[in-house]
Amino acid sequence: KMIRKEERPEFHLSTRTGWMNDPNGFSFYNGKYHLFYQYNPYESKWGPMHWGHAVSQDLLHWEYLPAAMAPDEAYDRDGCFSGSAVALPDGRHLLMYTGVVRQRQDDGEYRDIQTQCVAVGDGMDYEKYEANPVLDKTDLPEGSSVHDFRDPKIWSNGDGTYSCVVANRAADGTGQILLFTSPDGFDWKFKSVLDANRGRFGLMWECPDFFLLDGKWVLLTSPQDMLPEGFEYHNGNGTLCLIGDYDGETGTFAEHHNQAIDYGIDFYASQTTLTPDGRRVMIGWMQNWDTCSLRSPEEKWLGQMSIPRELSIRDGRLFQQPVRELESMRANKVAYHDITFSDVITLDGIQGRTIDMELSIRSGSPDSVYQKFAVRFAQNDQYQTALSFRPHESVLKVDRKFSGSRRAIIHQRRSLVNSKNGELKLRMILDRFSVEVFINDGEQVMTAIMYTDPLADGISFFADGKVTMDVVKYDLI
Ligand code: FRU
Repeated sequence: KMIRKEERPEFHLSTRTGWMNDPNGFSFYNGKYHLFYQYNPYESKWGPMHWGHAVSQDLLHWEYLPAAMAPDEAYDRDGCFSGSAVALPDGRHLLMYTGVVRQRQDDGEYRDIQTQCVAVGDGMDYEKYEANPVLDKTDLPEGSSVHDFRDPKIWSNGDGTYSCVVANRAADGTGQILLFTSPDGFDWKFKSVLDANRGRFGLMWECPDFFLLDGKWVLLTSPQDMLPEGFEYHNGNGTLCLIGDYDGETGTFAEHHNQAIDYGIDFYASQTTLTPDGRRVMIGWMQNWDTCSLRSPEEKWLGQMSIPRELSIRDGRLFQQPVRELESMRANKVAYHDITFSDVITLDGIQGRTIDMELSIRSGSPDSVYQKFAVRFAQNDQYQTALSFRPHESVLKVDRKFSGSRRAIIHQRRSLVNSKNGELKLRMILDRFSVEVFINDGEQVMTAIMYTDPLADGISFFADGKVTMDVVKYDLI
């Protein structure tokens, strides 16, 4: 069966066939953005990890290139796991990744041995380094696990040297982030334990990223096996942003603030890069280990990336906005101002499944705040996905129970949001099979995959009480 265009996301990178998970090697190299990804070309489920490869000029229109790496060496024969990339001063593109070998251990059990490896290339063809691995068990601090030692994120220190952070499990079984340094990207040395979770925020921290943003140091990671903590951390596999200070001498990080990166259902393993004009842009796997087996097995592809998001820090918090390049895809503007309603309404011209829609809502009555507001989308007689807001609780909920998947095990996520007198700003990006909701100018984001037939493109609004709303909608083409 051919895959029709309208069965794929329009501007979110997805796999053509097979399976995709984490973004890897996100970098600007030789005039283009490169994005690699965890890729199983053979089946639409997780398996032997290759590095799929795509390039783009604008972070929205992607061109597929041949897979850059396959698990074909003695040190990575069970997988080329996640990693990152950097441009070398000699013009080559360096990929740093985790080589996985499954081995029988002394106790008779089979377990992964994970090491860090590198490959170099020209943006198309990559060759693995003859002296791989570049980091192995001999580089680990006492008691650290060789079974969970993965996802190197490399960066240039600007003086010709490099650093990288790698996820690891400490002697007591909890997660930690290790810092290594290198004079050239090939020869690596252990520097320090950058941060350790000591059982907070999950057991293992995956896919770390570490960078300076607006004068603060930011550590991003994706914790596994998180225990739900209120509204903030509620996915078994979630995302975490720590903001603080970094002491480069000792290689330690002092955290001042923590928050989820995404408050929705489907977002994990995010990675950032710098654009040539200095923006810190993050992309994530728009799925989650708790939800990734939802599609029907007859589907030929599974996996897509989030929209790339520009990061900033405001009032000590992480803010995210869709990359500004998205604005050049906007067409067919439809706008309504000061619409007041107190039941279900639809608005002429407000519909679609590949749209950018801004809603600004407030109380429509001078003496009482409404009880509930909802916007329902990807809607037809059978299906809908909904965002609803209860101002008295300050709770925004995404509900995809009727989003076309009978297998969906997680239907809803709720988040506390900042709101006064029923005021709330939402920007919703729909791309056929996903919704990304940027709340209050990017103060929080909620992401969810939808499985609804792409022809279900209705949108309606609901108010219990009186709501006044401004709507601006663009098609994205
Ligand atoms: C995160 C992750 C990484 C690992 C990769 C394997 O989603 O578990 O830690 O490198 O996926 O595909």
